[in-house]
Parts: sequence; structure tokens; C-alpha cells
Amino acid sequence: MYKIIRKKELNPTVTLMEVEAPFVARKAEPGQFIILRVDEEGERIPLTIADYNREKGTITIIFQIVGGTTERLNRLGEGDCIQDFVGPLGTASHVEGLKKVAVIGGGVGCAIAYPVAKKLHELGAVVHSIVGFRNRDLVILEKEFRSVSDVYKMMTDDGSYGEKGLVTDALKALIESGEQYDEVIAIGPVVMMKFVSLLTKQYDIKTVVSMNPIMIDGTGMCGGCRLTVGGKTKFACVDGPDFDGHEVDFDEMMKRATVYKEFELHEREKACNLFSKEVK
Ligand SMILES: Cc1cc2nc3c(=O)[nH]c(=O)nc-3n(C[C@H](O)[C@H](O)[C@H](O)COP(=O)(O)OP(=O)(O)OC[C@H]3O[C@@H](n4cnc5c(N)ncnc54)[C@H](O)[C@@H]3O)c2cc1C
Ligand code: FES
Repeated sequence: MYKIIRKKELNPTVTLMEVEAPFVARKAEPGQFIILRVDEEGERIPLTIADYNREKGTITIIFQIVGGTTERLNRLGEGDCIQDFVGPLGTASHVEGLKKVAVIGGGVGCAIAYPVAKKLHELGAVVHSIVGFRNRDLVILEKEFRSVSDVYKMMTDDGSYGEKGLVTDALKALIESGEQYDEVIAIGPVVMMKFVSLLTKQYDIKTVVSMNPIMIDGTGMCGGCRLTVGGKTKFACVDGPDFDGHEVDFDEMMKRATVYKEFELHEREKACNLFSKEVK
């Protein structure tokens, strides 16, 4: 059992939890993830390691409440325990040797992009961060991102905070103003990563995306997380989650992500109903 030692709501649908998991904390690197099970009957879901503290033996996760399991997880509080917490899984992000990088985060993807930006900053790279949210109320990790960025651009779809527009607008403007990046790292909704990759392809800038297909074991045993990269089948849990954005078949990935939609809706309703009964 893995104890939650800190819980913080970052916005109405995004929660941060710091969890005691010393064996995971000992080896965790940015870009890796864990798979957890809330309780004995729970499904396994992957969440990125947003931060780690080797001395304290803790792992920080940041999750968006999108369905049944994240709803159940969000119901746990400080002092409660998570049944299973397996990791670190996946291949760590390759950040060594990069001198100037644009890190793009979309929505809760910022929780995944932040540790990568932080590591790049610690290694001495120039970091330009571009973050995008639907509106001001959904903004997360602003202070943290700013503290590791040489340039920080905040974009909102409705213009309620920062600049109005998409992350691709800001990236295009920076590139056209003469900024030259060794690499662009984009993490967020699949559609955002697709359009960042299409843009950078025009300028021939290497682009790394973090893919989030459905996962089950997360250790390479089932292929539930498969995707096509450069015409070849890859397993995101072991070969990734980072891949070359110019090679990923995003359209196939988006189609596969909707396979369990009806079942997911049902599970969420079940979790919400259970909760409304408990609070009565
Ligand atoms: C490597 C990786 C890292 C991730 N990191 C984060 C993170 O740091 N923060 C965060 O908020 N989310 C992250 N996700 C997504 C997270 O796993 C899903 O939001 C979660 O599984 C949803 O479960 P649910 O039951 O609450 O929602 P559901 O109603 O089951 O699903 C809602 C959405 O989540 C996707 N999803 C459902 N089950 C899985 C699964 N087993 N694996 C992957 N996606 C699934 C569905 O395709 C759907 O789009 C990550 C996914 C992957 C693959
Ligand atoms: S989740 Fe089973 S192989 Fe990746």
C-alpha cells in the first residue's frame, strides 16, 4: 500500500498527489510513468511521474479527472493509501546534450512537460516554454514552469489569460522571429501534438512527442499501447512514451483512443453515482 502524504487541487479538474513510494523514487527519471490501481477491484491506469524526491522517497503525480478511475482516485485524501503503484516505467526522456529547446505543454500535459523542462534547465539548456489552456481557470504549474524557463509564453483559447491563441501560434512566431531550437518537445492532447509536429516539419526541427495510448500492464507484455511510428509497430510503454513526432501516425492513435468510450462513460457514471450516495 502506498500512502498519500500530500493532496492539492491545482484547478477544479486537476489534482496533485505526493505518494510515498521509495523504490520508485530511487530510480525515477523525467519522462517515465507509474501504473496504479486505486483499490483491489480497480483498473490499472498510467500516470506520469511529475516530480520525485529521492531523500523523502516520494513521487508526485498530477492527474485530470476524466473518468471512473481518476474520479475514484480523487476521492482519496492525505493519509489514505493507493493499492498498487508500479514504476518507474517507460524510457526516460533524452535531454542530455540539448542546448536550446522549446517545450510545449497543453492542459494537463503541462504536468508531464514540466519535469522535462526542469531537467533541461538543470542541465544548462536554454528553455523556451509555451503552455496552452482552454481558459484561465484551468492554468496549472505557472510558477514552477516560469522558474525553469528563459522564455515563458502562456496561451489561452479564449484569451482570458496570457495571449489568445494556440500553442502553435506562439511557436510559429518564435521560430519566425529567428529563434533556433535543437529540438521541440510537445506534450498534451494528441491533436495538439499532431499540429505542433506538422508545423515543425515545415522548418525541419526535430520534434519529440509523448504518446498516451491505452495501457494495461505497462511492461511490454500485451501490445494494448501499440502505435505506428515510421511505419513500424511500437509499444508506447517500453519503446516510449517519447517518439519522433514527424514519424507518429496520429490519426490511427486518435481512433484507437476512442475504442472503449461507451464502457468508460458507464464506469464514470457508476463512480459518480457511488459518490453521490456516499455524501447523502
Ligand atoms: C504514459 C501515460 C502517461 C499519462 N500521464 C498522465 C498524467 O500525468 N496525468 C493525467 O491526467 N493523465 C495521464 N495519462 C492519461 C491517463 O492514464 C488517463 O486519463 C486515465 O487512464 C483515465 O482513466 P479514467 O478511468 O479516469 O477515465 P476513462 O473514462 O477510462 O477514460 C478517459 C480517457 O482516458 C483514456 N484512458 C482510459 N484508460 C486508459 C489507460 N489505461 N491508459 C491510457 N489512457 C487511458 C481514454 O482513452 C479516454 O480518452 C497518461 C497516459 C499514459 C499512457
Ligand atoms: S501496455 Fe501492454 S504492452 Fe504496453
